[in-house]
Order: sequence, then C-alpha cells, then structure tokens
Amino acid sequence: MTRRVIQFSTGNVGRESLRMLIERPDLELVGVHASSPGKVGQDAATLAGLAEPTGVLATDDRDALVALGADCVVFTAQAETRPEEALADLCAFLAAGSDVVSTSFVWLVNPAGADAWLLGPVEDACRAGGSSLYVNGIDPGYSGDTLAYAALGLAGTATKVVVQEIFDYADYDDGDFTGVTFGFGRPADADPVMMALPGVVASVWGGSVRLLADALGVELDEVRDRWENWHTPTRIGCTMMDVPAGGVAAVRFAAEGVVDGEPVIVVEHVNRLTETAAPDWGYPPVGHTGVHRVRVEGHPGIEINSHVGLGDVATTHAGVVSTAARVVNAIDAVCAARPGVLTVDDLPVNLVGRVMS
Ligand SMILES: NC(=O)c1ccc[n+]([C@@H]2O[C@H](COP(=O)([O-])OP(=O)(O)OC[C@H]3O[C@@H](n4cnc5c(N)ncnc54)[C@H](OP(=O)(O)O)[C@@H]3O)[C@@H](O)[C@H]2O)c1
Repeated sequence: MTRRVIQFSTGNVGRESLRMLIERPDLELVGVHASSPGKVGQDAATLAGLAEPTGVLATDDRDALVALGADCVVFTAQAETRPEEALADLCAFLAAGSDVVSTSFVWLVNPAGADAWLLGPVEDACRAGGSSLYVNGIDPGYSGDTLAYAALGLAGTATKVVVQEIFDYADYDDGDFTGVTFGFGRPADADPVMMALPGVVASVWGGSVRLLADALGVELDEVRDRWENWHTPTRIGCTMMDVPAGGVAAVRFAAEGVVDGEPVIVVEHVNRLTETAAPDWGYPPVGHTGVHRVRVEGHPGIEINSHVGLGDVATTHAGVVSTAARVVNAIDAVCAARPGVLTVDDLPVNLVGRVMS
C-alpha cells in the first residue's frame, strides 16, 4: 500500500527524510512544510537537492497541510528549543487523524519517562484523532534500543550495559544548534550550558536507560547524570566552529541507571572536535571517526560497534541520514500500529521499508 506522507520541516534531518519520501516507491509525498520565507513556494525536490521537480511546493500554512488528511507526517522541526510552538504543530496533525513519526521531542523516545506537559497533550491528540506517534533517531534511539537489544540478546548473563556514542563532530555543520547546546568553544569560567545542568542529560538520555531497565526487569534506584568538559590548550579550527585556546573542544556526559550505588545501565556520549581533543576519553576503532557502541559485561561479554557512513560519506552526515531513515522506515509499521504514543517495543523488529528498488 502506498502511504500518503507530509514532510514537516526541511532542516538537517528533514532534508534527508524529504529526499527519502520523494525517492521511495511505497511512499507518496503529498505536502511539505517550511518555515523560512526563502523556502516557501519552492519545489520539494529543490529543497531535497534533487533535480526532477515533484510538483509539491513547500508551504508555511500548517492548517492547509493538516487538511490534506495524510496517512503520516514525518516531523523533524526543531522542537527542544521551541517546545510550545512545535507541540501545537505536532498535535494538530495527530488530532486530525494523521500518524506522526518524529525525530523531534527526543524525550518521547521513551514516553514513560516524559514530563506531563509533553505527554499529556500528545496522548490527548492521539486519542482525539485515533492516531499514533513514534519518536526515534540514531541517538537517542537506535543505539539505546535496537543495538542494545541485539547485544543483550547474545548475553547469557549481564552485569552492566554501556551504550556509547563516540563521535568526532569537527565536520558537523551545526554550530548554531549542536555547537551552542554542547557548549563548544566556551571558556572554562563560563556558566554551564543548559545541557550540563543537573538533570538535563538524564531527561534526554535517561529514557533509553529506563527502557533497557524495563526490558531487563532491573529496578533502578535512580537515573543520575554526569558532564565533563575538555578545554583545548591551542586553537582548533573546524567546520563546527573555531575554538580559541582555552575553549571547550570535547564533552563527555552520561545518564546512569544506578543499583546499590553502582551504575549498571549507562548511556554515554564522547563528542570531540578533531581527534586531537580529549585524548584520554576513548576513540572509535581505527579508521572511523564515529561509533555507536554497546558493551555488555557478563558472560560471555559482548561488544557491538556500529558505524554509519562508508566511503566518502562523512560520519556526522551519515548520522543525520540514518536518523531520518530510522523514522521513515517505521512509517508503514506506525500506520498499522495501535493508536497512542509508541515505543520501539510496539513495532516489528525488522523495519526496513522499500529502501531497495
Ligand atoms: N535522536 C536523534 O538521533 C536525533 C538526531 C538529530 C536530530 N534530532 C532531533 O531532530 C530534530 C531536527 O534536528 P535538525 O538537526 O534537523 O534541526 P535543524 O537543522 O535545526 O532543523 C530544524 C528545522 O526546524 C524548522 N524550524 C525551526 N524554527 C522554526 C519555527 N520557528 N517554526 C517552524 N519551523 C521551524 C526549520 O525548518 P525549515 O528550514 O523547513 O523552515 C528548521 O530547518 C531536533 O528536534 C533534534 O533534536 C534527533
């Protein structure tokens, strides 16, 4: 069955999902939302970097898109920095009966841990429209669920699970959002960025920790977080930004599920700008600039290293493409699923869609 789909927003992730919606034979692009005046009125193909026009023009008229009654909306608008506005857009589609797959609102990767201000309205909207919402991505998302499940499925016994993203973000052209959010470039005496404040990392990645704890039947005493900055002794110039000497050029942070004082389920990030930064913090395997890794301690002990981006595709760009693919590949299953806010556990194990045609 061909699903009629709307792409909502054409930023880093949205451009990639838009391209998939245009190219995939099992999906029909019926609408595109863009907020920037320069994008409104442009053909979807132009916004996706494709040559052949689709005839679908970008609009900033949300209600006109809602009225199309699409089967599904791929929602990739910036949400964490403008939650109220984005939530109103998201709920308008859900309440009108369109299902939504989203990379935005990362707190909803595990809805059980989401705050009432967010979960309440989306649950109400799903109820009103008989629709479903699925939020996922590569991290948070894949690394802490599908990848971790794959590793745990090979374990006889497990005493500790560590999920890691170790990525060199130097060539990631996202200084305005990731750069600012992670605090890259800031001097040692600057106030902590929002992400480094107590509880924030646990609110974003703690959902993955709790999802694994639930799957394993582990009762956690708490989910706590930690954050470290690494300051470069010399200037670092890279695509993400120019970091002066003394500025933050790497961060390491984690959400830790704790039992009896010991972290037993850990979701950790090491993000550096160039390989010279934070030399003591661990690296991807030789030949790679990024890895999503799951390490299970126990018997026999398991480690899976997952790399996106082969050949000349930069790992950071590949992460963005795979984040988009992660939700586009779930469209058919989400359309077939029960109404409500879904997790990966509500969907079939193998979600590949018609990626080969
Ligand atoms: N879980 C994961 O692995 C993962 C990975 C990456 C990103 N994410 C999440 O996915 C979302 C998108 O990330 P991104 O990197 O694509 O972000 P981005 O490049 O900043 O793009 C976000 C888009 O949101 C739209 N937008 C921004 N302000 C708006 C406004 N005032 N009104 C309406 N639309 C507005 C814009 O769309 P137009 O340009 O079309 O106007 C913008 O391009 C974020 O919520 C991010 O946290 C998750």
